[in-house]
Amino acid sequence: MLKEKLIIAIDGPSGAGKSTLSKALAKQFDYLNIDTGAMYRSVALLVQQQGIALDDEGALQELCKDLSIRFIRHQDSEQVIVNGVDVSAQIRTPEVSLLTAKVAASQVVREAMVKQQREMGAEGGVVLEGRDIGTVVFPDAEVKFFLQATAEERGRRRYEELMAKGSDVNLEQTIIEVKARDAADMARTHAPLTQAEDAVVIDSTRLSIAEVLDEMSTIVRKKQTDK
Ligand code: DC
Repeated sequence: MLKEKLIIAIDGPSGAGKSTLSKALAKQFDYLNIDTGAMYRSVALLVQQQGIALDDEGALQELCKDLSIRFIRHQDSEQVIVNGVDVSAQIRTPEVSLLTAKVAASQVVREAMVKQQREMGAEGGVVLEGRDIGTVVFPDAEVKFFLQATAEERGRRRYEELMAKGSDVNLEQTIIEVKARDAADMARTHAPLTQAEDAVVIDSTRLSIAEVLDEMSTIVRKKQTDK
């Protein structure tokens, strides 16, 4: 029997190519792509805008309760709509990135986001990208990938991305920052970055996007035809 609507989990550290690959995979299978990092970023943006203190659990809970996050896919981009407003650019600023790491460590925020992610993915036909998808959000996902690449390679990719945007950056410093973020992601008390035991690990250090996508879609297609 052909199983059309699978749940695909993609986890891994930042800079391993998760975003690019989950979007490409979702497009290929005509699935919904759920960028869970963008959801935590959206909460952080509202925390910043509303001046909420990070230890004010009641206010964080209230904020998450009424939060509507939607993803709209376009030909070459994706829009993130929060409470009806397009926040796609605002959630990617360095300030929001920094705040997101702290917001994502809050248990009340994680509980609310995980609940939304489960609802959005319940019907299948989704690719969810994050840090805890295969371990916490959908431990029974039909397909789990863990994307890896060395910190040096991920730092180099990030450095080139920033250089292309005209930022004045230093390669060694960028690699140090990547390693620091990895350490913080793995040391976090709630849902630290860990690899699910049954995840397919793909090291993209020496692979092109097309090569990784090919490997992933072969695995998804095989799962679709499994009994
Ligand atoms: O993938 P990203 O850089 O957009 O993630 C932003 C932040 O959110 C990063 O600090 C890791 C965190 N995050 C998380 O804790 N759990 C997820 N499922 C996704 C992201």
